[in-house]
Amino acid sequence: METAHAAVTTRLADYQPPAYLVDSVKLDVDIRDGVTTVTSELALRRNPDAAVSDAMTFNGEGLVIRSLTLDGKVLGEGEYRYDNGELLLSGLAEQATLVSVVDIEPEKNTALEGLYMSNGMYCTQCEAQGFRHITFFPDRPDVLSRFRTTVRADKQRYPLLLSNGNPVAQGEEGERHWVTWEDPFPKPCYLFALVAGDLACLEDSFTTMSGREVALRLYAEHRDLDKLDHAMESLKNAMRWDEETYGREYDLDIYMIVAVSHFNMGAMENKGLNIFNTSCVLAHPATTTDAGFQRVESVVAHEYFHNWSGNRVTCRDWFQLSLKEGFTVFRDQMFSADMNSDAVQRVNDVDFLVNHQFPEDQGPMAHPVRPAEFQKIDNFYTLTIYEKGAEIVRMQYHLLGAEGFRKATDLYFERFDGQAVTCDDFVDCMQEVSGRDMTQFRRWYSQAGTPILSVSDEQTADGYAITFRQHTPPTPGQADKAPLVIPVRLALLGQDGEPVALDDSGLRETVLILEDAEQTFHFPVSGPVTPSLLRGFSAPVVLEFDYGTDQLATLLAHDSDGYCRWSAAQRLYFTALDRLVLGKGRAEDEAAALAPVLEQVIERAGEDPAQAALLLTLPTEIALGDRHTPLDPAAIHVAHQALKRALGVALQSRWLSLSENLLATELEMDGVAMGRRQLRNLALDYLAAGGHPEAARIAIELFELPLCMSEELGALRVLVHHRLAGAEQALEQFAHKWVEEALVMDQWFSVQASAPGEVTIDVVERLLAHPAFDWKVPNRVRSVLGVLAGSNPSAFNTDKGYRLFTDALRTVDGLNPQIAARIANAAARLHRLEPGRQQVFRSLLQGVNASASSNLGEVLGRILAEN
Ligand code: TRP
Ligand code: ZN
Repeated sequence: METAHAAVTTRLADYQPPAYLVDSVKLDVDIRDGVTTVTSELALRRNPDAAVSDAMTFNGEGLVIRSLTLDGKVLGEGEYRYDNGELLLSGLAEQATLVSVVDIEPEKNTALEGLYMSNGMYCTQCEAQGFRHITFFPDRPDVLSRFRTTVRADKQRYPLLLSNGNPVAQGEEGERHWVTWEDPFPKPCYLFALVAGDLACLEDSFTTMSGREVALRLYAEHRDLDKLDHAMESLKNAMRWDEETYGREYDLDIYMIVAVSHFNMGAMENKGLNIFNTSCVLAHPATTTDAGFQRVESVVAHEYFHNWSGNRVTCRDWFQLSLKEGFTVFRDQMFSADMNSDAVQRVNDVDFLVNHQFPEDQGPMAHPVRPAEFQKIDNFYTLTIYEKGAEIVRMQYHLLGAEGFRKATDLYFERFDGQAVTCDDFVDCMQEVSGRDMTQFRRWYSQAGTPILSVSDEQTADGYAITFRQHTPPTPGQADKAPLVIPVRLALLGQDGEPVALDDSGLRETVLILEDAEQTFHFPVSGPVTPSLLRGFSAPVVLEFDYGTDQLATLLAHDSDGYCRWSAAQRLYFTALDRLVLGKGRAEDEAAALAPVLEQVIERAGEDPAQAALLLTLPTEIALGDRHTPLDPAAIHVAHQALKRALGVALQSRWLSLSENLLATELEMDGVAMGRRQLRNLALDYLAAGGHPEAARIAIELFELPLCMSEELGALRVLVHHRLAGAEQALEQFAHKWVEEALVMDQWFSVQASAPGEVTIDVVERLLAHPAFDWKVPNRVRSVLGVLAGSNPSAFNTDKGYRLFTDALRTVDGLNPQIAARIANAAARLHRLEPGRQQVFRSLLQGVNASASSNLGEVLGRILAEN
């Protein structure tokens, strides 16, 4: 396969410590229109932990060298080598000082790594390897340095000049000014940040547990100043929570967050100066959905928590990425559970994992939580690293218990403070504190793929026997799999739905720790029971058990475990949907069978409306499609629509009363109010799916007089997705009202791109040509192409869909390879498609691959290699 860039593979097994360390860095960033000049002075010292060498490699991408000076001596052209992104110097003494002066062009940087511009401000993104686009440096996380940074720019246009740490000096030179920042904490260069712009600030303060006062400053464009309160609340909650839960307090005098419109990911934890995608920090009830509010809370917390899990203790190399990301996601999940509803948070997190990470683990991009190799590290900021990584930390949390885990994390933070370490170092702390042998557990880090746990049970003469068989299917490059440590939290429900005693002590729930390929457990219980398995989703595995319909109804109605209730509902839906896909049933009959069970859920919806909404939501078409090979997305779509319509009809009076009776008169933003809105939006969706004549009226009433964006957008979505009368006018009205609000317009684009049905592909074509569509803004690109490819299979999987998608990939790749590669992941089901579609799509993807960037080429290469 020919690609535009030769693939270079980096391997964990080849790790070598750097020949030189950089004790301190002095940076001078002189920002002028068109060209920014970066002067850096590196204090180098031979690394005592590396083989002695007088040569050192520095990374540098696209830097125009003005001068290089080593120990006061200007280097001539023959005295260094700079090619393929590497600067090689030799003849270095034990200690040396390298001064480099380079020019860069942030205005032309559409890849959004390194220094770039967003809506008139300058900002940076250095993780993972962006710093090499700013200056020469050993761009690797195991080089920790003290940074002192001076930023210079025009006073009027860039009144605000920020970098990490504390401001220590400032001055003016005519029209220009400068500020010097000093960060006392040694850090890897991926945590460097700089901002120059004209921004509004929301300021507050926080007193840490030891009584230190920290200034909290949230920056955004002036027009967005009124959208920072929720992030500020979330930040203060996160700071308090980390003190109470982990005993960790903040360590600088200032904590800053800057909101930028152009951003490749959610947010970035740069030391003392987080930079956020506007979508993850701005929130206002009028413009932000409830889901958006929750996302802001969790991302603000996530980046804050990185200050300890990531910054104070960082990664030795990028193979250890999950050391900081998996741990930090676990921390933000637990925080959100404490701030909101435990059960709902867990089900949402599991839903996300199962519907997004499991497919990744079962497809061409499957990789271990600690990968053994990569071409572009940007491609490994994956759901596996983040979400599965969090599950692995969660299993350790449960293995040690809350107290033991806290002791282990105390040990981890104390022992490794200021160091760059590995996933094994983390597990070592767990092992030391608990005394438990974690040897086998560590396979979770090195073995890719989702284990399948097949369970069977039988009533025996003296009780109940349950047998577990685990196996992990092969993944690319990893054919043979070994058994994993799988904690299975279990209860046995009697006929009344209550857990029965599992032994003489009256224990009603237990955790079985599986270690072998097959294990059987006996319980002295009498009478038939329904196993409630994997409670709380105690391990990230696919559970196979041949539940009877009555058992699933029992679990759904009675299980005290939120995950098990949700999982039972999913099984019921899948069973019905599978039959429809296989042509073995009628949608009306399936709906009639489901109706009484769902009625019970609706009856009890008042207890926890958000949980009821989760229980009443059908699995997605994508999830359904993943159960049927070869994949025919059109057939899946028909079956899915049929069941939804039939449920809409079968329970229509329920949906109607939920749509009307859950209306609030006053805006509230607490969990219950959000749950009610979620449930009402869902009910309205079912009502419309069933073709109820009142659906359009209710949707339009809500749309015309919404209390908040969740209502407004929920109503718009129903109008558009069901193509109800008034949909077109509502879209126009919405666009007119919100033209100036980019994040709301993103929703306008995605609501249209996600409308089910083939005809949507024509809509998408028009959206891409819309004046408000901008190929350079990742949020906008995601809101159309990401949504089409990631959640609208019936429109995407058409000849026109494939053509539009691959053409768009080329365009995006020319501007922003990281985003192109991310979006390309949506093609990972290629090898499962029925032959007709597969052939068309494959040849189009091969065409893109022929001229792809190295980012996109790695992803397409893996997808095309799968047969
Ligand atoms: N470390 C960031 C996080 O909190 C991830 C991130 C932000 C990132 N921007 C990026 C990763 C750009 C790669 C490229 O999860
Ligand atoms: Zn993170």
